[in-house]
Amino acid sequence: GMPEKVTIYEVGPRDGLQNEKGVIPTAVKAEFVRRLLAAGLDTVETTSFVPQKWVPQLGDAEELVGLLGADAKGLKRPVLVPNMRGLERAQELGLSSIAVFGSATETFAQKNLNRSHAEQFAMFEPVVEQARQSGMWVRAYVSMCFGDPWEGEVAISQVAETCQRLMDMGCDQLSLGDTIGVGTYAHVHRLLDALEKAGLSADRIGVHFHDTYGQALSNTMAALTRGVSVVDASAGGLGGCPYAQSATGNLATEDLVWTLQGLGIEHGVDLPALVETSTWMAEQLGRPSASRVVKALAG
Ligand code: HMG
Ligand code: MG
Repeated sequence: GMPEKVTIYEVGPRDGLQNEKGVIPTAVKAEFVRRLLAAGLDTVETTSFVPQKWVPQLGDAEELVGLLGADAKGLKRPVLVPNMRGLERAQELGLSSIAVFGSATETFAQKNLNRSHAEQFAMFEPVVEQARQSGMWVRAYVSMCFGDPWEGEVAISQVAETCQRLMDMGCDQLSLGDTIGVGTYAHVHRLLDALEKAGLSADRIGVHFHDTYGQALSNTMAALTRGVSVVDASAGGLGGCPYAQSATGNLATEDLVWTLQGLGIEHGVDLPALVETSTWMAEQLGRPSASRVVKALAG
């Protein structure tokens, strides 16, 4: 059944901003994170420790963590880390929570990680091992769980196997990424069926839906009815992956909060404060928020 409480895993500062074309000052990013925290979002993914040439927009990770101080630290402030160099950078700053990010498909592993599907595991293994030895919390994202822009449909068995291999390394949480937003309600059920059979229960799973086809909330409903209680979302519906053509914004946090409120599920977010934050961020980015709830409530 449905969970009584949902943890919203806010990815706005990371997924939301990684694909922005213009330069966003680090101080604006820090203000964005602080406002999200003030609006009650307590799990916030702040940035990525990847080479600047791969994701220029997040090239200021050290500076951002410096500006945020204690607000960037602790188990509820994960950062993306693909390899040992990324882990070293995060550990030098005293961070204690990371997310590795694998691909269910060969093509996206090549495009996003410059590794084959098989090679990605060798890259992540020492990262997860050392992070766990240091007492860090580790999330494992799997991208292209519902479809891949180059390969089309992705076999559920291939997704489940990728998930299992990452979770076997000892990751604390899995996040099922619908990178290009092609998943639908029944497909979510089928994937969760397969994962359950593979021994991965709902309490270790989060969902990460992009809203390209307008299915993110419907897909979230499917996951909630299966007992999933960690839902990724991005304030104002920002987001997209620079290495996946046709990826648009994440499920908007405001749209998720509206739905959870209607279901009577606890979420901890102050919706007016969040709408105000997304409206402010939209002004910084120079375009209106994609979130329907922000559009309806801003004003
Ligand atoms: P590579 O070029 O093969 O890396 O990239 P390399 O190991 O060959 O190293 C090349 C150079 O980069 C070396 O420097 C390294 O030291 C340096 P040089 O010797 O040439 O001076 N380097 C680093 N510098 C800083 N930080 C590091 C780092 N690593 C190496 N961590 C790599 C391989 C994995 C690094 C690259 O492919 C990469 O960073 N990919 C990540 C791309 C990315 O961030 N994509 C977006 C996030 S994923 C996403 O959005 C999906 C998600 O939202 C879920 C969903 O929606 O599905 C999570
Ligand atoms: Mg994403």
